[in-house]
Amino acid sequence: MKGKSYLVTGASRGVGLCLVKELMHKEEEPIIFAAARLPEKYEELQELAKANGRVHIIRLDLTDVQTIKAAAGEVLQILTAEGYEGLDFLIQDAGTSEDLVPPLDTPDHMLKLVFETNAVGPLLVYKYFRPLVQMSQLKTIVNFASNFGSLTLASEPLKHPEKATVLDCTQIAYKASKCAVNMETVIIAEDTRELGFTVISMHPGIVDTAMGSRPQKVVKEAKPEVQPEETAKLQIALYDKLSIEDTGKFFDYRGNILPW
Ligand SMILES: NC(=O)c1ccc[n+]([C@@H]2O[C@H](COP(=O)([O-])OP(=O)(O)OC[C@H]3O[C@@H](n4cnc5c(N)ncnc54)[C@H](OP(=O)(O)O)[C@@H]3O)[C@@H](O)[C@H]2O)c1
Repeated sequence: MKGKSYLVTGASRGVGLCLVKELMHKEEEPIIFAAARLPEKYEELQELAKANGRVHIIRLDLTDVQTIKAAAGEVLQILTAEGYEGLDFLIQDAGTSEDLVPPLDTPDHMLKLVFETNAVGPLLVYKYFRPLVQMSQLKTIVNFASNFGSLTLASEPLKHPEKATVLDCTQIAYKASKCAVNMETVIIAEDTRELGFTVISMHPGIVDTAMGSRPQKVVKEAKPEVQPEETAKLQIALYDKLSIEDTGKFFDYRGNILPW
């Protein structure tokens, strides 16, 4: 049986790599595009693609629009050759962060890089992959935001100063860029509603990856809450249940709705 089609950005490591591995276990054998900016650096990803002909490694750097355009062309070519009608799931996992320092200590180049990667990159991916998604029956886009991108949650310490922690005012570029991702989800959901797209924001949990284990270096109690394999498993189960009714919503990996 021909499975669904998925593209996962950030597939080199962390949550993205686990999403690819979890998708490979699906019975109906999906076709998986594992997008990474420097795939040759990552042996595990290379081995996965060698072992499973349905995993295609695609070069894609969120800060280089030429690689995004080329990636869209390559994916379309493979989908067409394999008899697929479009890309069912565009999973925008890739992201980066500056160090956990107060706003004025964030270097200028990091302010730009984090915004370019996390907020502009996914918009370019959306722009160039949208025709492929539009051709599919499922038309699903998952934008990786973060609970840190929620204005409601970020403003809690202002309302309850007794609950504030030293982490609240760190990662200003990361948090603002993830807030921008949430706005992108809302606008794209609205813009594509009549076409039958399902566009959501995803908070994968505080995951035990290079990114998710950093707060613990500043505050000992800020431990990751979930392993990357577990969040990937729960997310794939959630993606299978999504429908057009869910468009424009902000989910966590357990399927709870988060506030914007
Ligand atoms: N971990 C958490 O606790 C947590 C919490 C909330 C939200 N998130 C979000 O969940 C997503 C995955 O997080 P993670 O924990 O798996 O992070 P991670 O382990 O740091 O992995 C980040 C991934 O993004 C890729 N990436 C970075 N810059 C890129 C660029 N310019 N072009 C293409 N790919 C790029 C990395 O590729 P390279 O290997 O080439 O660097 C890597 O594959 C991110 O969007 C993150 O913001 C994570």
